[in-house]
Amino acid sequence: MMEKKVLFTIFGGTGDLAQRKLYPSLFRLYKKGDLKEDFAVIGTARRPWSDEHYREVVIGTIKELSDSQEQAETFASHFYYQSHDVTDTSHYDSLKDLAETLDQKYHLEGNQIFYLAMSPNFFGTIVSHLKSQGMLDTDGYHRVIIEKPFGSDYNSAKELNEEINQVFTEQEIYRIDHYLGKEMIQNISAIRFANNIFESMWNNRYIDNVQINIAENLGVEERGGYYDKSGALKDMVQNHILQILSLLAMEPPVAFSEKELRTEKIKALNAIRIYSEEEVKQHFVRGQYDKGQLEDKKFVGYREEANVDEESATETFVAGKFLIDNFRWSGVPFYVRTGKRLTEKGTRINIVFKQVPVNVFKQDLNEQKQIESLAPNVLTIYIQPTEGFSLSLNGKEIGQGFETLPVKLDYRNSTEIVENTPEAYEKLILDALNGDGTNFTHWDEVAQSWRIVDVIRHAWDQETPDFPNYAAGTMGPQAAYDLLAADGFEWIWRPDEWYRERDLLNEK
Ligand code: BG6
Repeated sequence: MMEKKVLFTIFGGTGDLAQRKLYPSLFRLYKKGDLKEDFAVIGTARRPWSDEHYREVVIGTIKELSDSQEQAETFASHFYYQSHDVTDTSHYDSLKDLAETLDQKYHLEGNQIFYLAMSPNFFGTIVSHLKSQGMLDTDGYHRVIIEKPFGSDYNSAKELNEEINQVFTEQEIYRIDHYLGKEMIQNISAIRFANNIFESMWNNRYIDNVQINIAENLGVEERGGYYDKSGALKDMVQNHILQILSLLAMEPPVAFSEKELRTEKIKALNAIRIYSEEEVKQHFVRGQYDKGQLEDKKFVGYREEANVDEESATETFVAGKFLIDNFRWSGVPFYVRTGKRLTEKGTRINIVFKQVPVNVFKQDLNEQKQIESLAPNVLTIYIQPTEGFSLSLNGKEIGQGFETLPVKLDYRNSTEIVENTPEAYEKLILDALNGDGTNFTHWDEVAQSWRIVDVIRHAWDQETPDFPNYAAGTMGPQAAYDLLAADGFEWIWRPDEWYRERDLLNEK
């Protein structure tokens, strides 16, 4: 493995993301030898920290990963802190001086990655200063990794993109959607394109509907301030859900490369129907959690959470139906569902296949009764917390007579494998070091996703919703069930039923 020579400058170096995800990921890359002697990290933020304090913080974030204190300290010795006001031009001059010193000291050959892990209001300001203050006048490569949210609607995203394009080319911009770093999201393409039994049936002749779930059992935790302005639609649907959808719906790429994959994803997103306001009301449901109780755990309602408006109209739940107007998918609903304080944490995809053309088991001749329709064949892809896939089939019940019975072929990665798979951020940072943009979102994808989501947001903003409308611990409001029932379908994943049957879910 080639050791990477690089200087990371992390804007938002004291923040939560840096501490929870970035430092541990850099450390894992260090342990594996992708980063060795020749790398350095500048952490920058407003707080006046010293290098010593910064290094202690970094060591604190990798405690459980390091083999020895010495190893942790050696790693942390590559970290430098610079207190910084992103709007103050002179601060970039000191940043540049430090960057030059570190470049010499660690032989970095001018390679630089800038990581924007802070409030998006400043992304434009930061990149324009990087250029104007000459921070990009080095020999090596210059790349910028940008955290979500990329804008708050199409217009603001476009403006931001234009600002960044003044400084970085599209190839140098790595827009993070951490779902694209998840093992099983990357596996979607393997399941589709390495298995003829699926790819040959991956269309509207054989598939009845597709269901994408990203359920969380957590509430908004400490992020009330951000979340109350965003809501589930912008927080999850615009990015993660539409990315997953595009991977499921895209045409097979000519080759499995950044360019070809992106081309197909963009085509898929472009084929998603942009709804009229009437259609939004019909096809999309929003919800906000009320208090609730699951087993012995009691939860407060969203409006009682810290930094949330007491009369907040922000949605913490979205369910909806996307339609894709192309030859492959015309007529197949793609149902999506995501929310906070749902029954269980679970990201899973259900591909629901059509029934056989004639159900020959329909009539029980002995008893002269009609047998209900067969259970559908369902391919389920488990993204998290368990990883794997299952296929539901119908078999014959053992014994006299002929009753069909659903059976499930189920494969899950072992806990040991799951624990040892690289975390999404580790994979994405390594991709960026390798200059591979496959698992990042192209501007055209971001732009189209905003166009799709903006009309939903706009239609919703015309009316005040009747919130709260679902109890914490349930799978969202009744309307989310009615949405599928109206089409003759139902959610395949119903984790709340188990608790209801045992009276463990208090919805009052
Ligand atoms: C983030 C959202 O993008 O994804 C959070 O801002 C959400 O609100 C998170 O909790 C979910 O990510 P994961 O990896 O825990 O499924």
